[in-house]
Amino acid sequence: MIVPNRPESDLLQAMNERIDVGVLGATGAVGQRFVSLLDKHPWFRLTAVCASERSAGKPYAEACTWILRDPMPEAVRGMVVQPVEPGIECTIVFSGLPTDQARTAERAFAQAGYGVYSNAGAYRYADDVPLLIPEVNPDHIGLIPIQQRRRGWDGYIVTNANCTTTHLVSALHPLHERFGISRLFVCTMQAISGAGYPGIPSMDILDNIVPYIADEETKVEEKEPHKLLGRFDGERIIPPDFRISAHCNRVATRNGHLEAISVEFDIKPTAEEILETWREYHPLPQQLRLPSAPDKAIIYREAEDRPQPRLDRLAGSVPGMATVTGRLRPDPLFDFKFLTLGHNTIRGAAGGSLLNAELMHSWHPDADSLVAANGAVPCAIPPST
Ligand SMILES: NC(=O)c1ccc[n+]([C@@H]2O[C@H](COP(=O)([O-])OP(=O)(O)OC[C@H]3O[C@@H](n4cnc5c(N)ncnc54)[C@H](OP(=O)(O)O)[C@@H]3O)[C@@H](O)[C@H]2O)c1
Repeated sequence: MIVPNRPESDLLQAMNERIDVGVLGATGAVGQRFVSLLDKHPWFRLTAVCASERSAGKPYAEACTWILRDPMPEAVRGMVVQPVEPGIECTIVFSGLPTDQARTAERAFAQAGYGVYSNAGAYRYADDVPLLIPEVNPDHIGLIPIQQRRRGWDGYIVTNANCTTTHLVSALHPLHERFGISRLFVCTMQAISGAGYPGIPSMDILDNIVPYIADEETKVEEKEPHKLLGRFDGERIIPPDFRISAHCNRVATRNGHLEAISVEFDIKPTAEEILETWREYHPLPQQLRLPSAPDKAIIYREAEDRPQPRLDRLAGSVPGMATVTGRLRPDPLFDFKFLTLGHNTIRGAAGGSLLNAELMHSWHPDADSLVAANGAVPCAIPPST
């Protein structure tokens, strides 16, 4: 990988005007994260908040039951919530809509020329829609011109992965690149906030673990890691051929999904080689110094009882955006086992979409050669969209 010699000020100078953005589903768990993360964002300015008919027409502060620890940003309190329909004043929208609503609304926005950055599952598996983690598969944005041509859209949709897959694949990506995964087992312990707000009734989750999350295991076993780790040949994504077994559980933590992973490789690494691979991992968002990219994409915790959700979910230079690993040890059935932890509503949802949008808008006079040098296809979307 080539590390660009590009001071942060150059990038910010290239972004001399902030881009107006809207949030669809702005009152929900993910929507609130967007609102919070967009407050004082150096490239994006929040100009529209949209939600259901229940909320439309009310000031945001009245429509929204704010569930984040940081206070609701002042600038959004008086913003009137608008219906989820194109026509709002912005060029890109971040979507935290439920999947059924996202199916119609995101298409309508893309058709109307908006760039749509979605957390919902509606378009994640469409073969012309990027499922993007900027550290893992930035070249998949090459699908966007294909999507626009095929569907006749002026805008486009970019999706991010499910919160569990995001941290699983983030930890595995550099290992897969170097050693090749041949088999994978994962058992997840997923936080309550992953089910939205108000989520699971407290009487069901306190003092309990619910060993079922609808559709989650299929997403992990069959759909998302294979698309994310697939090779883009200029037309389509060609998936790798390893198999995954997943057990997904809902546990009584508020934020942060912990995952126990066992993995077998094509080329057998030592533990030190795995640690070295994580240590030296410096992918494109870190090279580009995108505002939401943490200095270290993967942080390894040395202590034998870490990572833990309460202690480690906000680790790193951009809280909630890094993937934290730990307890790497030999596995008697596979080659190695370890734990991974990541924040589900920051990197696993709103922060992930924000980083996707930053990648798409990072194009700078020298960005094409930079991206091409990294094996990625330069994006056809001009910075103004
Ligand atoms: N929570 C996570 O960790 C996580 C992680 C990754 C992805 N996701 C995905 O992100 C999306 C949002 O999840 P969430 O947890 O934020 O859900 P949520 O808390 O239930 O919020 C849903 C939002 O959508 C709006 N909405 C609901 N029905 C609507 C309709 N018919 N028309 C227009 N707007 C409507 C709601 O507005 P009102 O307040 O007005 O009802 C609210 O703003 C889902 O697709 C989910 O799968 C969630």
